[in-house]
Amino acid sequence: MIVRAYPQTRMRRLRKHPWLRRLTQEHQVQTSDLILPIFVHDEAQSQSIASLPGVSRHSIDNCVRLCEQACALGITAVALFPAVASDKKDALGSEALRDDNLIARTIVAIRERRLDLGIICDCALDPYTDHSHDGVLQTDGDVDNDATIIQLTKQALALANAGADVIAPSDMMDGRIGAIRQALDSAGHQSVSILSYTAKYASRFYGPFRDAVGADGLTQARYPHQKSNKKTYQMHPANRLEARHIALQHLHEGADCLMVKPAMNYLDVVLDLVQETQAPVFAYQVSGEYAMLVHYAERMQLSTAEVLQESLLACKRAGARAVLTYGALDVAHALANPTIDC
Ligand code: PBG
Repeated sequence: MIVRAYPQTRMRRLRKHPWLRRLTQEHQVQTSDLILPIFVHDEAQSQSIASLPGVSRHSIDNCVRLCEQACALGITAVALFPAVASDKKDALGSEALRDDNLIARTIVAIRERRLDLGIICDCALDPYTDHSHDGVLQTDGDVDNDATIIQLTKQALALANAGADVIAPSDMMDGRIGAIRQALDSAGHQSVSILSYTAKYASRFYGPFRDAVGADGLTQARYPHQKSNKKTYQMHPANRLEARHIALQHLHEGADCLMVKPAMNYLDVVLDLVQETQAPVFAYQVSGEYAMLVHYAERMQLSTAEVLQESLLACKRAGARAVLTYGALDVAHALANPTIDC
């Protein structure tokens, strides 16, 4: 090891000027790292989401406008999530499988604009089930893994048929990546990629998202023995090695990219997956993290974009190739008009 001792070495020398700090910085948040999540609903007006500051459920038209804005700013991709009307929800999430459902129509509308913007579609049943679980329930209240996979493959096909670029299964059933890959391939969708939610933790930071998509079934049980949490399929927050294990399994099954979720509390897992697999790993700054950071920035009268940027930088430092954040537009605006003394 090289010993660089004081006074020959003064680390502060490289911190003296903004340009020198910029020149020597190891990591950077760029607009092209950002994925913007968008909530869509089947209403004419957009509607704000109380627990998710600055974020709304959008009509299809407004979603398309948002995509145009995002693209003009240099954001690389959007991730679509549906807020489904409660009369369209059922025990099996049947609406998710329909070729003309809300998300399918949204994809078609975005595609018509021919934007240089990726369309990532969440593949999971929870916005469509009346119990709000990510799968089909068994009589004991738990989620039936293999029955759910059948639904998910059909959902993935509907999304790919509508024109999705990336299918992002966020349900955590075992074996769904292989089944979805096979279904896509046999339908001629070899070039549709899979972003697997590999390390998705049973986190307490998903609350505002569940408000946004109306996933109230977890708190208002409608079925016997229904569980109020997702601990039998999402990962235990205590586990780190397990994420490496699942990542290898998912890549073997045909995943193209891996997602770690939430981001901030799980950066060790991001680093592990990058080192273990060398595959592109993305981080998802989830609704609760985002809300927490925005509230903090407001309380302390700081720039929200700067606070968000620091947390995104941490994701990049851990090795994340891209970050999904509700603050993508805010951060992209700030990066386009840099006023920050770095
Ligand atoms: C479920 C899903 C969830 C989120 C994305 N997909 C919530 C959950 O697992 O209950 C949460 C994202 C966020 O909090 O921003 N398929």
